[in-house]
Amino acid sequence: MHHVLSCDQFSRTSLEQLFVLTDEMRVDGKKFSTSLAGKIVATIFYEPSTRTRLSFEAAVSRLGGSIISTENAKEMSSAIKGESLLDTIRVIDGYCDAIVLRHSDSTAAVDGASVSLVPIINAGSGSGEHPTQALLDAYTIYKYKNNIDGLSIAVLGDLRFGRTVHSLVKLLSLYDDITIYGLSRDVIALPDEYVTYLSQKGVSYIPCRSLADLPQDIDVLYHTRTQTERFKNTDLKIEEFIINQSVMKNFSAHTILMHPLPRRNEISFDLDDDKRSVFFQQSHFGMYVRMSLLHNILAGS
Ligand code: NCD
Repeated sequence: MHHVLSCDQFSRTSLEQLFVLTDEMRVDGKKFSTSLAGKIVATIFYEPSTRTRLSFEAAVSRLGGSIISTENAKEMSSAIKGESLLDTIRVIDGYCDAIVLRHSDSTAAVDGASVSLVPIINAGSGSGEHPTQALLDAYTIYKYKNNIDGLSIAVLGDLRFGRTVHSLVKLLSLYDDITIYGLSRDVIALPDEYVTYLSQKGVSYIPCRSLADLPQDIDVLYHTRTQTERFKNTDLKIEEFIINQSVMKNFSAHTILMHPLPRRNEISFDLDDDKRSVFFQQSHFGMYVRMSLLHNILAGS
């Protein structure tokens, strides 16, 4: 059994092995075209998704496996009839070899794993974690920077509800001499549990209030969308930090601009042709990272 629930689970060695396999998937994916032959993967999504679900499904197909799916499980599964998540998992685990699960509850993946007879892969759990996104984010950083040790990285936007940030900072903490700048409005600052986590791992975390607080030669800007759907107070208006051409003029030629996507207006379209904008490449890497992960979990076991 090999659940993927949180980035706590990864070691630097396991991450680097995954990166090596991901390189292989990109260069010679055909070599793995039957690695999931005879396997069925269920993608069960209680929240909307474009990249995560489709890249997982493309990954399964490219590895020769089959997919069963509910893309709007909140309404189109028996959840609408009042079935509990755990009952649903107990049923689906009899149909498939792994379950890729996205849910609005931050403990959903862990809860599901407590009853599942097959591996659960957390594809985003509420405002908790999104480990597979962080794997592709770390891979992207590694590809563009050749090394993660010693980097300075700014996480921007919704650090409170943004699950991709929560998972990413955990992976970054596996590396040496990392500095993380956190730029957000106060109400959506990084929760204390992650600030404490970083300090325990020896990562320097610097909260910021303005784009001008970030060093011009920073290695990575990782922007995120305000997760308005998670706000209890729906009247709360958060002013975004907009990154556009004039902002990027202040950063070095080596600063890469990342985003898990979907973006709204926090990264302006005038930056799409900027060599430093790597967010579409980042999303493409996701499929190969997920192929590697699925291969590790399901092939040959
Ligand atoms: C993110 C998510 O679902 O957490 N998207 C993704 O998986 N690439 C980010 C978001 O929704 O803002």
